[in-house]
Amino acid sequence: MQRAGDPPARGVFITFEGGEGTGKSTQVRRLVERLSASGIEALATREPGGSAGAERIRGLLLDPDHPRFGATAEALLFYAARADHLETAIRPALAAGRWVVCDRFSDSTRAYQGALGKLNGEVVETLERMVVGNAGPDMTVLLDLSAETGLARAALRRGTASTDGFEKESLSFHRGLRQAFLALAAAEPHRFVVVDASVDMDAVADAVWTAVRARFLREAASV
Ligand code: TYD
Repeated sequence: MQRAGDPPARGVFITFEGGEGTGKSTQVRRLVERLSASGIEALATREPGGSAGAERIRGLLLDPDHPRFGATAEALLFYAARADHLETAIRPALAAGRWVVCDRFSDSTRAYQGALGKLNGEVVETLERMVVGNAGPDMTVLLDLSAETGLARAALRRGTASTDGFEKESLSFHRGLRQAFLALAAAEPHRFVVVDASVDMDAVADAVWTAVRARFLREAASV
């Protein structure tokens, strides 16, 4: 039982994963709004980025005027950004009892640089142990969508804005990406929740909320 003077209980860490155009940022926002309406304060954040230092590294990684780095350099940069993000934003928030909802995290490195970038999985897992250790997400929501629909949605959202190197990848890359995320989810069924992202965003938000309540808020069934 929590007593006056006790440190606050650690918050819950939830990440969203999926390909381009799956609606992750919208769903992060929707979940944080619902948590807030239930009296739970949550930090909405994203990767790469989420802290001042990590946002600077994001600028390097997504610079539309620079071709993509190789998979090794990318993995090191993503983990450098993640180290700063964890140290200055995620860990302090969780320690203060706030929830953290993050748009992409380590599973994106596993999928993009590992499975698709052909970087040895052991390299990614070594970096993961060094940087994240046991501070990984309590739940990961995979927004699952066909590559065709995801790319069409992403193009619509982008309009005439310039594309970064990741968005220039081909349809077959995005098909592979979907399979890589599904394989990660199948390997860790207790952490992952796979949500069909082809339906409208209210229905996706409802499915996410149902999963979060079932896992973490069982006692608050009326919320
Ligand atoms: P962003 O504009 O945030 O894309 P999205 O809206 O799809 O999340 O760009 C992030 C890009 O970086 C995205 O294409 C995925 C890629 N990425 C990796 O390759 N590895 C990683 O570890 C992370 C966090 C992102």
